[in-house]
Amino acid sequence: MHGTANLRIALAALLLYTLAGVSAASSSPKTQLSRRRCGGKSGSPIKNCARKSQRKAWDDLTPDQRKDYISSTLCLTTTPAKHGVPGAKTLWDELHYVHIVQSAYIHFVGAFLPFHRYFLLAHETLLRRECNYRGHIPYWNEVNDVFTFRNSSVFDPMTGFGGDGAPLAGHPGGGCITDGPFADLRLQLTANLTVAPDGGYCISRNMSDCLFSGALQENLDACLSAPTFEAHRNCLEAKPHIAGHWGVGGTMSDTLLSPGDPLFFLHHTWLDKLWWEWQSRNLSARLTEISGPNIVVPPAPPPGNGTGGPPPGKTTFTFRNETCSPSGGGPGQGHGIGEPLDTALTDFFGDGGGNVTTLGHVLFSHGILPNSTIGEVMDLGGGVVCAEYV
Ligand SMILES: *[C@@H]1O[C@H](CO)[C@@H](O)[C@H](O)[C@H]1NC(C)=O
Ligand SMILES: *[C@@H]1O[C@H](CO)[C@@H](O)[C@H](O)[C@H]1NC(C)=O
Ligand SMILES: *[C@@H]1O[C@H](CO)[C@@H](O)[C@H](O)[C@H]1NC(C)=O
Ligand SMILES: *[C@@H]1O[C@H](CO)[C@@H](O)[C@H](O)[C@H]1NC(C)=O
Ligand SMILES: *[C@@H]1O[C@H](CO)[C@@H](O)[C@H](O)[C@H]1NC(C)=O
Ligand SMILES: *[C@@H]1O[C@H](CO)[C@@H](O)[C@H](O)[C@H]1NC(C)=O
Ligand SMILES: *[C@@H]1O[C@H](CO)[C@@H](O)[C@H](O)[C@H]1NC(C)=O
Ligand SMILES: *[C@@H]1O[C@H](CO)[C@@H](O)[C@H](O)[C@H]1NC(C)=O
Repeated sequence: MHGTANLRIALAALLLYTLAGVSAASSSPKTQLSRRRCGGKSGSPIKNCARKSQRKAWDDLTPDQRKDYISSTLCLTTTPAKHGVPGAKTLWDELHYVHIVQSAYIHFVGAFLPFHRYFLLAHETLLRRECNYRGHIPYWNEVNDVFTFRNSSVFDPMTGFGGDGAPLAGHPGGGCITDGPFADLRLQLTANLTVAPDGGYCISRNMSDCLFSGALQENLDACLSAPTFEAHRNCLEAKPHIAGHWGVGGTMSDTLLSPGDPLFFLHHTWLDKLWWEWQSRNLSARLTEISGPNIVVPPAPPPGNGTGGPPPGKTTFTFRNETCSPSGGGPGQGHGIGEPLDTALTDFFGDGGGNVTTLGHVLFSHGILPNSTIGEVMDLGGGVVCAEYV
């Protein structure tokens, strides 16, 4: 763990450098606002949200819709980068970067759910704007797959995203994926934002039925009935969030690098749906309910039972007589998380210099989308996101 402090400083410096560059090069916030759009029709600013993006479960897409989504995703992985991300070859690398560079400020914090809602929009916008995608982003209805995990349609090699990684070190999975449309994809950016040698690295997976059981209905119910946003976000991050990441394993279980696997976006759309369901149970109050630290303050949140916001590694699952714990994820796991508060960074987010997440907290995607604030994405059917789960 010696390298982590240095890495953290390097990341912080890079973030500062990048943000300074973007801010200097960008237009005023007002211009940015007028560029915001829904559905990717270029030049059409949104004033309201009349036609909502219809987000469906992957299982409910027609074969043609699945094909369209997969081929548009492949298009992102081959279209040259255009947002000035250092080292990025493709738009896929640029999306990857947005998550890697901010990893320490978007997990175990108040911005966890809002940031990912915004990140999904960045992804959807790229699909539409750059790859002529005509559909909407789908979600993985994980609760339906808990007892038939390995048979899930998302792993289909012909119509889905391919299956488990190759056997590694005496375990059935853990290596590179070998089938499906993304078996040849090579990711470029590493956890420290250097470019990987030798043309990049593969998507790996290491499937675990036991870890995927975090998506059990009883865990969802607990999160949906949480009385406060604070309890809700901790609850979601503890089990349902771990399910998709550590259940799939490999790249998906890497806190920084997980968006390299396209399943990341289906998993996070599912989590966003859960947050929206919770919000919808008392919408008037919950369109403005936000809380939590804006940067992870050590010691990391206490281990808990769905109420305490345990970091990965502290939650234990029991499923079909197996006990498992989401430790030993990918190589970048945990970088930046639980390390000393970097006060130089706290002002960045527009939380008034405090360490508590506010509605004014700025969401950033390196120019893929204009900056937003948490307040602007609280309403799924608002002027920025403009979507609904159907
Ligand atoms: C976007 O957000 C970043 C991070 O908060 C900030 O540094 C940058 O100045 C913002 N850019 C604009 C155009 O507001
Ligand atoms: C997966 O599907 C096959 C074929 O339909 C079936 O035999 C098997 O029991 C299923 N396994 C699980 C874990 O659902
Ligand atoms: C894959 O997961 C198993 C536990 O299910 C673990 O023992 C193994 O080390 C993991 N492999 C890799 C490469 O992470
Ligand atoms: C960055 O990460 C890569 C891959 O883990 C490693 O090989 C390289 O030495 C690291 N570079 C720096 C400057 O830390
Ligand atoms: C919604 O939240 C408000 C504010 O917390 C509370 O006063 C109200 O009772 C809640 N309504 C319902 C139906 O739970
Ligand atoms: C914010 O910082 C204060 C000290 O300035 C500390 O007492 C408090 O616990 C911190 N709150 C959070 C949510 O980190
Ligand atoms: C477990 O949950 C209960 C509420 O359901 C809470 O009172 C208790 O403090 C939690 N335990 C831990 C270790 O977080
Ligand atoms: C779990 O273990 C119990 C007793 O040890 C056994 O009766 C039961 O069949 C096992 N269940 C499964 C799904 O393996």
